Amino acid sequence: METDAGDTTAPATLSPRPPCARISCHKSSNICSRSYFMVVMVFFHIYIINVIALLLYVHYNDGHGGAGPSRDSHRLPAQPEFLRDISLPRIEGIRVGHVQKVSLVTDKVHEMRTLSLKPLLFEIPDFLSEEECRVVMQLAQLKGLMESQLMVQEGQEELVEELNLSPEDIFNLLDINQDGQLQLHEILTHSRVRDGIWLTPENLREIYAGLKADKDGNGLLSLEEFRLLSSDAFQRFLLQQGVKRSQLVRNSRHTWLYQGKGAHRVLQDIKKRVTRLTRLPPALVDLSEPLQVVLYEQGGHYHAHHDSGPVYPETACTHTRLAANTSTPFETSCRYITVLFYLNSVEGGGETAFPVADNRTYDEVSLIQNDVDLLDTRKNCDKSNLRVKPTKGTAVFWYNYLSDGKGWVGEQDEYSLHGGCMVTHGMKWVANKWINIDPDYQRQARYQQLVSQQPEDDDDDDEGLKMSTDPYNSDTHQDL
Ligand SMILES: *[C@@H]1O[C@H](CO)[C@@H](O)[C@H](O)[C@H]1NC(C)=O
Ligand SMILES: *[C@@H]1O[C@H](CO)[C@@H](O)[C@H](O)[C@H]1NC(C)=O
Repeated sequence: METDAGDTTAPATLSPRPPCARISCHKSSNICSRSYFMVVMVFFHIYIINVIALLLYVHYNDGHGGAGPSRDSHRLPAQPEFLRDISLPRIEGIRVGHVQKVSLVTDKVHEMRTLSLKPLLFEIPDFLSEEECRVVMQLAQLKGLMESQLMVQEGQEELVEELNLSPEDIFNLLDINQDGQLQLHEILTHSRVRDGIWLTPENLREIYAGLKADKDGNGLLSLEEFRLLSSDAFQRFLLQQGVKRSQLVRNSRHTWLYQGKGAHRVLQDIKKRVTRLTRLPPALVDLSEPLQVVLYEQGGHYHAHHDSGPVYPETACTHTRLAANTSTPFETSCRYITVLFYLNSVEGGGETAFPVADNRTYDEVSLIQNDVDLLDTRKNCDKSNLRVKPTKGTAVFWYNYLSDGKGWVGEQDEYSLHGGCMVTHGMKWVANKWINIDPDYQRQARYQQLVSQQPEDDDDDDEGLKMSTDPYNSDTHQDL
């Protein structure tokens, strides 16, 4: 990007021009008298001192000033403290439709178009050549693709027993708005997380009818109505009817391709290009998940989701788990950036939908209205704010987290919600490159240090942070 507007510093504009040059001095004017000149010079000096003070302030508040010992050091007594000496670059979107030129390979200049600001989302046509697309698809086939989501099996009843919750407890937990009734969306949201079965409002009405659950027929479940159902009544009903692939949260197959030392040249080239595109430190890209290649056949889809979870104090990132406090009870994927590559042009459907891109507000509850579920990419892609058509070689990329304002990863960007619309004709091949960064800087730094201490056969790596083994296995990296 040429327009790097972030770094224009104030002093460059302070040319030491005599103050009188700015005001027109008439021949016989005594405005330019000695005392006037003194006054102006005094103001000029105060201005300079202010600018210096401001720069010092900004410098020490950026976190790399090293002003005394870290204030947080008492919290982690036994751990080494890492003073943050890097600031993550973030590409500026300017405005929707803005095109900037980027230099990623030696013989070509790419154009990068801003698609939305919330999330910060870009599209780069011809990021991959036809040849590269072909090689990635073939390597994936050679390695073998597996189901992205397994069919739901019977025999999950123990889970409920283990939980040891009364129907009242469960009712209260599901009743998000605490109005004493279960609305459709309160049940839908829960089912998707628990079973991975994607119920639609119509499915749920069928279940209510089949089980005679909604006695008063008002479309809501009261505590009395809920109590009459066994805890796994819905699931049993569905399994009896037979769950189809099209009823799962995602309907695709995928595999992972390692991009480190010894990997196919094309895979290493793609990684290098992603590093140049994102301008992130190479070590961060090297330590991220391998390339995921996904195949959607006709009828395939992936309902809208976030690639990364929100990060709370009790949550650890999957990739830095090694360096995290083992007592953290929850785990989530921390994917700062998603780069999505289209490996073929899809004949029909298969767009990537961003239901709330650049929406004025984000309201999770209004995503699922009684009859329109914006998360449903089999039905409601046409109601998404933004859809990207899959075109061979094009890459799109977006930030799943906001900035914390101090050069590191901040909160999850809820607007990054996206999904794969149903493929109506042909097949759809895509690849995902996720760049993993822990919003907790200390954990990321500790993790990188741990990995870099592992023995390496030879050290031709400039960063010294490359992994000698692939720590990701397919089981821990299904992004749900
Ligand atoms: C790990 O968590 C425990 C309990 O929350 C806390 O006492 C301890 O200080 C934490 N240690 C680190 C290194 O964060
Ligand atoms: C999108 O923005 C509109 C206007 O602010 C709002 O009414 C609507 O609820 C938003 N949609 C979502 C899903 O948040």
